[in-house]
Order: sequence, then C-alpha cells, then structure tokens
Amino acid sequence: MSDAVAAPVLTIDGPSGSGKGTISRAVAAHLGWHYLDSGALYRAVGVAAGWNDIDLADPAALVRCTFDTRVGFRDAPGGEPRVLINDVDATDELRTETAGAAASAIAAIPEVRAALKERQRAFRQAPGLVADGRDMGTVIFPDARWKVFLTASAEERAERRYKQLMDKGVSVTLAGLLREILARDARDANRPVAPLRPAEDAVRIDTTGMGIDDVVARVLALIDG
Ligand code: DC
Repeated sequence: MSDAVAAPVLTIDGPSGSGKGTISRAVAAHLGWHYLDSGALYRAVGVAAGWNDIDLADPAALVRCTFDTRVGFRDAPGGEPRVLINDVDATDELRTETAGAAASAIAAIPEVRAALKERQRAFRQAPGLVADGRDMGTVIFPDARWKVFLTASAEERAERRYKQLMDKGVSVTLAGLLREILARDARDANRPVAPLRPAEDAVRIDTTGMGIDDVVARVLALIDG
C-alpha cells in the first residue's frame, strides 16, 4: 500500500496517566476508526512472561516470549476492549501496576520493540486509525497525518490512576502511585531505544485541569481543521 492511499493515522502519545487511552478510544469511536492500544502489547508480553516464569532480566527469553505471545482485542460495548493473550482473557491482569512495570522493563529491549513493529503497523486500516502509545508519532507511524502529545502533571496523573483503581476496588496509596509514575516516566524517557518524547511535528496538549470532553474536542478540532 503506498502512502498516498494508506489509511489516515492520528497518533496520541504521552506518559502513563496522561489520559491517552480514554481520549484515544473516545476519538476513535467518534470517527468510527480503528484503535491501537500499543501499551497493551507490551503489557501482554509482561503478563505472558509472568505466566511462564521468565526472568525480566533475561532479554533473550523475553524476545522468544514476544514471538510466542499472540495478542487479540475484542470490543466490549461501552467499555474498554478486552485483551486476549493466547486466547485467554487477561484484561484485568493487564491493567495491574505489576504488568505496567514489567511492560516498561520489557519495552527497553530493542529486539522486543522490533518484533512488535509490524504487528502495530498492521492496525492501519481504512477508514483510519487512532494509535495510542509512546512512540506512535516518532517510530511506528512517522508519516501520520496528525500527531498529538498529551501531558499532565505527575500529581494529577497519579490522582487519576488512584481514582480508576479505587473504582475497580484495587487498594493502593496515592504516594505509592506517584512514586511508580515518576519511576516509569524516567525509565521510558531515558531508555536508549524509542524514548518517550514528542515528535517534532506533534501538537502538545497539557490536560492538567481539563475534562475528558474538552480534550476530545481539542483533538477532533485538529482533524476537522
Ligand atoms: O501505556 P501503558 O501504560 O499501557 O504502557 C505500558 C508500558 O509499555 C509503558 O511503561 C511503556 C511501554 N510502551 C512503550 O514503550 N511503547 C509504546 N508504544 C507503548 C507502551
């Protein structure tokens, strides 16, 4: 498929807790486009590694695990899509802080990132794709028509995550979450391969103090405009 006819892509990158997932899903639903949750792929490898007792300090085993792990998405009307790892619904386990931390460690391995590249690009299908992650605009879809980089203060991101987890009945402390978010930001931003940074042509939106609907409207305005 040549670029001239390739389906349009909107990339939404940013640190954890910036609201990427919620905003990307809402924008994709509004446009009737496909949605790629690239973080779920890294999380799925982290969860699968746990299932198989693979040491997070063993890159060769993690690369093998990446190739052996099939990840499927199933739409769940009105909610987050369900994520299947080798046909097993692992959505709840995928969202734990443990899975996020494992994903962040695994995401620093260049061969794992390379193995997931084409899987991510395969989501680019008509009528369009909203791609959510850390390197969507810089590495996976550098030719995307629109690129957004969402940020929010670490404190606000920790609070949002705290509320989400409390709603799910998961018991955590705000201080602990803030520590984890800062540690994950530092790891994602400082890794040598595909570090978290805005694409030069990305529009930055600081969502601190903004409601979901306002952010969605800002993003949709870019596409209409
Ligand atoms: O967005 P998330 O919290 O589900 O992502 C989990 C981890 O996966 C995150 O710490 C970094 C990594 N990741 C990445 O390196 N590149 C992406 N495109 C998406 C996620």
